[in-house]
Amino acid sequence: MSASEPLVLGIESSCDETGVGVVRGTELLANAVASSMEEHVRFGGVIPEIASRAHLEALVPTLRQALDTAGVTMDDVDAIAVTTGPGLAGALMVGVAGAKALALATGKPLYAVNHLVAHVGVGVLEGGELPESLGALLVSGGHTEILRVGSLTGDVELLGSTIDDAAGEAYDKVARLLGLSYPGGPVIDKLAAEGNPKSIRFPRGLTLGKFMGTAEEPGPHRYDFSFSGLKTAVARYVEDCRARGVEVPVADVAASFQEAVVDVITKKAVLACQEHGLRNLLLGGGVAANSRLRALLAARCASAGIGLRIPRPGLCTDNGAMIAALGSQLVSAGVAPTGTEFGTDTGLPPSIVSLPAA
Ligand code: KG4
Ligand code: ZN
Repeated sequence: MSASEPLVLGIESSCDETGVGVVRGTELLANAVASSMEEHVRFGGVIPEIASRAHLEALVPTLRQALDTAGVTMDDVDAIAVTTGPGLAGALMVGVAGAKALALATGKPLYAVNHLVAHVGVGVLEGGELPESLGALLVSGGHTEILRVGSLTGDVELLGSTIDDAAGEAYDKVARLLGLSYPGGPVIDKLAAEGNPKSIRFPRGLTLGKFMGTAEEPGPHRYDFSFSGLKTAVARYVEDCRARGVEVPVADVAASFQEAVVDVITKKAVLACQEHGLRNLLLGGGVAANSRLRALLAARCASAGIGLRIPRPGLCTDNGAMIAALGSQLVSAGVAPTGTEFGTDTGLPPSIVSLPAA
């Protein structure tokens, strides 16, 4: 560790995790996370208003905890970074207001950063600098994207994304259909291990020729995803079983649904890497915990000669360390801070890594 490397505090509040992380250069010093997930269980999904209130309560204690764990004070901090988008409007606002207050009170430079790019930036905390030729596959409850990352601090391109539900959202909705608990991902992952993934042929969204096109003439959704048709197909299947008075083969449905999701995600991610000459892929987001996704992606990357990087689970889900890690890369690259004159942006595209000064 070199004292000349920037000490950066990162604040994350885009969904249901209040995260505060402390990073020096590429070294992780603290990653404090408070989640309001328990409060959303009875609704089967994140309720924005509840998430915002929970952020308000958790922000200061989480900040204290992160500074304590890192053994630093605000005086030691060189810069602050905060998620400004994409995410839930009210939730983002709490983190941004807190970060602005801290910046104004301490005079420290403030960076308003992109949540999606931070999911990639967290990679520097494990294994140091990111490879030059890099793709990223981000799969969570709130987003599903394929990115091309030329440079973490200035060249990020969105190659594909979901046109309806996020991958994790599909897991959560299908779990609800099957009468399973929230969040659905871990439950379906476990149940699927006991089922036959080939027993039901569920649709693979946006894989038809008219959507895919060819490498030379790409169709309109070559690298995009859609999970709502799959969700409807599962719903129809379950209704049909009930109408016929037969027991729903829950493990088979879980396994077949999971195979449909993971098959498309891995195929399109590998295809995007191959067609953009990307020799490495980073996986991020809460769904990165999925055992079948990890196994199939590892196999398909290996046969395509693509190096796969998966940060440890606590760094894949939403957290403050990823925001601090991206902030630290921005400071080191000499990117100018945003200042305090900015607003949140629920639809911030990944091509905007951090907001320029007003
Ligand atoms: O990144 P994350 O913690 O936060 C949000 O973006 O909300 O991701 C949470 C999502 C949930 O939809 C959850 O069902 C899903 O990740 N998830 C999983 C697994 N573990 C969590 N999905 C599939 N398999 C898993 N093992
Ligand atoms: Zn996220």
